[in-house]
Amino acid sequence: MTVKKICVYPHSALREPTQEIILFDEELKKLVSDMWETMYASDGIGLAGPQVGVAKKIAVIEYDGEKYVLINPDLSEKDNFTTVEEGCLSFPGIYEKVESPEYIKVKYYNEDGELIEKEIEGFLACVFSHEIDHSNGKLLIDRISPLKRQFVKKKVAKQAKEK
Ligand code: CO
Repeated sequence: MTVKKICVYPHSALREPTQEIILFDEELKKLVSDMWETMYASDGIGLAGPQVGVAKKIAVIEYDGEKYVLINPDLSEKDNFTTVEEGCLSFPGIYEKVESPEYIKVKYYNEDGELIEKEIEGFLACVFSHEIDHSNGKLLIDRISPLKRQFVKKKVAKQAKEK
């Protein structure tokens, strides 16, 4: 297992168009285990392919002791929107209040290629939605007001300079 480097905003990998996964092979299993390792090393609860420079529709989530591998996820319903404070491994040190769904209906494949269909409620639905956004090149910063977006961009630029 390898800890991969996490792409931090505004890294272009975060916006790169993603491909669906077609082969459920050993290479995919290796990617999944690297993603777990990378997520744990950064104390995250979710990590998506583009965040480690892999332009594929894949994400891993661990929440409340349960692990989920989301391959080619498809969100068909979002509802019960609420305001939650979200962070993101690609925006270190930044937490923003955003509207997020506490109910979703989702379909995805696990790493063995089994199709899973689920309805999810509560904070886990917000986490799924955040990671599925990543797997489509959409970011936390897209979901805040233009004024806040400017503020976050400035903060990110300042952090990059200080490094
Ligand atoms: Co994120």
